[in-house]
Amino acid sequence: MAKSKLSTLQLQLILISMALATAAAATTTHLRFYMHDIVTATAGSPATGVRVARGTMPLPGDPNTRFGDIHVIDDPLTEGPDAASPAVGRAQGSYPFADQQELAVIFSLNIVFTAGKNNGSYLVVNGRDAFFDEVRELAVIGGAGRFRGATGYALLRTHYFNSTTKNAVVKIDMYLRL
Ligand SMILES: *[C@@H]1O[C@H](CO)[C@@H](O)[C@H](O)[C@H]1NC(C)=O
Ligand SMILES: *[C@@H]1O[C@H](CO)[C@@H](O)[C@H](O)[C@H]1NC(C)=O
Repeated sequence: MAKSKLSTLQLQLILISMALATAAAATTTHLRFYMHDIVTATAGSPATGVRVARGTMPLPGDPNTRFGDIHVIDDPLTEGPDAASPAVGRAQGSYPFADQQELAVIFSLNIVFTAGKNNGSYLVVNGRDAFFDEVRELAVIGGAGRFRGATGYALLRTHYFNSTTKNAVVKIDMYLRL
């Protein structure tokens, strides 16, 4: 009888610790910042993205962009949509246009933090970005420094886009399990 009471208590403790573990695992960290992708230099803003390879087939809706184009970026990240707002870090990586039917790329990025407590740490992001979708979801597949072992996802929304210069400001919301 005593043995079975102990077992019940143990079972309850196990259930409580499982509930606590689940609550801890469900805790997410939310980061929000804005990425300034400057394809065409303007007064006071040098280009931060460069096309390094030219593809073959013009894509529907934008004959100047081709399937197979590859861009490399080192875009500033700021706290707010204004380029003059405080710096958060840099989005460094590349994106090939990898869809023959629409303007969609494979984004492979390091989100390198350069300010505050995250300075020197970075997150690794990879996924599909179909530029004209309202919300694009990319995977956060890892990190280093404060973000070692991080996983989660990033939601990208175009805040500003100039179809002439191709310059864009993209709002990025990240939800991380650390
Ligand atoms: C970030 O860290 C680097 C290297 O330690 C340092 O030079 C720089 O001043 C730091 N930046 C900020 C904004 O704290
Ligand atoms: C787009 O950029 C061009 C060239 O800088 C500028 O003349 C135009 O006003 C911009 N359009 C918008 C909607 O910001």
